[in-house]
Amino acid sequence: MSGIVFFKTQSLHATKKFYLNKLGLKLWLDQGECHIYAHDDMLIGFCKAEYSSTQGTITFLYDSQTLVDKAYTQFKDISTTAPKLNPKFRIYHFWGKDHENRTLEFQYFLKPDEDIEYRNPIEILNPTSNKPKLLLTRMLPQNAVDILQKTFEVHANLAQRALLHNELIDNIADKHALLCLLNDRIDASVIEPAKCLKVISNYAVGYNNIDLEVAKNYGIAVCNTPGVLTESTADLAWALIMATSRRTVESDVFTRCGKFTGWEPLLFLGQDVHHRTLGILGMGRIGKAVAQRAVGFGMRIIYSGPSEKALDFEAEYVDFNTLLKESDILSLHLPLTDRTKHLISENELKQMKPSAILINTARGAIIDEKMLIHALREKWIFAAGLDVYEHEPEIPSELALLSNVVLLPHIGSASLDTRQKMGTLAAENAIAIITGKDAPARVI
Ligand code: GLV
Ligand code: GLV
Repeated sequence: MSGIVFFKTQSLHATKKFYLNKLGLKLWLDQGECHIYAHDDMLIGFCKAEYSSTQGTITFLYDSQTLVDKAYTQFKDISTTAPKLNPKFRIYHFWGKDHENRTLEFQYFLKPDEDIEYRNPIEILNPTSNKPKLLLTRMLPQNAVDILQKTFEVHANLAQRALLHNELIDNIADKHALLCLLNDRIDASVIEPAKCLKVISNYAVGYNNIDLEVAKNYGIAVCNTPGVLTESTADLAWALIMATSRRTVESDVFTRCGKFTGWEPLLFLGQDVHHRTLGILGMGRIGKAVAQRAVGFGMRIIYSGPSEKALDFEAEYVDFNTLLKESDILSLHLPLTDRTKHLISENELKQMKPSAILINTARGAIIDEKMLIHALREKWIFAAGLDVYEHEPEIPSELALLSNVVLLPHIGSASLDTRQKMGTLAAENAIAIITGKDAPARVI
């Protein structure tokens, strides 16, 4: 906590309205004559006073220029300047006014290396002249890097960040293989300059980040990592099911804040999971693994998707509308394609039960995120558990302010074992293609 800035006001009500609604800040403490709002690790307090002081500056600090820009679009109607760089103080910022004429400053201090326009973060791990070259867009668990070095000269991004799109393009020209992440956009602008490229090995089961048409036209193989992450992703879907149903994240925050003053009959009432209906949209590998776990909870299982499946547990194949209407918990396990984008939007959310819970560990854009925010705010459904977002890594602040949603940072496959297995598989895929063998998991 970086301390509290305090201001006096005559109208706590209007202040509350402005800071909660307009700025979307979290109300951290609301105790009669005093309101304290949280903005990241900064607290802004207002207390009631007959003679209010309207003077003062509140400074909001953002971690990146992109976030300042985003804040500007959100606060445009209260801003008094457009975002600009003040080179003298190395601040990128804009100004605004609150409803009591206090000055608000939204700012970002430029980091010392911010103006170094381009520094290539790629380093060669094992310089050699007789191996094909592989571009590794981010360091993986060491087991995978060890396997890769036996076959390839590995050119790896050693920075603690994803490669910029331009960096990908600038480094691909002489590479024979590409091992990339689900957040690397591999489109024509990357594939066309890649004159020697034979294989794109995605360190993920989903491959909506890769333009398959273009890869196919250039005769480049595309591989992924199915199977090895199925059980871990199903475990995480269940972590979200339990957390949202029984409100464990909200309860944890409440308890840590010292608000637990004794057992209460009506404290954090949630939804039961046992003996309810679990709906699975997309009964593929992960969908099945999620459903199988529900057997132990005595749940009724229904599912929908392109075709009925032969299953070794009891589950009913239903149409999409029945799935929406009857699921108490609806879990999505589809790939993102043109056909599945915004599959869950206003109409679908409105068909769900008010007590229903929506779980997404697949891809964010399957849900129309704006509509989901409406649905959660207006309680069309009880809660949502999300591991993925429509515009990852951006998460709308409206979503983050809701208490009936649990938000995770895309960690479905993030167990130590699984990430190692994914590494081995992604490495084996790349090696197989380069050495002219059948790849263990080839998409095209
Ligand atoms: C994770 O989202 C994956 O596709 O592997
Ligand atoms: C709960 O702890 C109970 O004993 O009912």
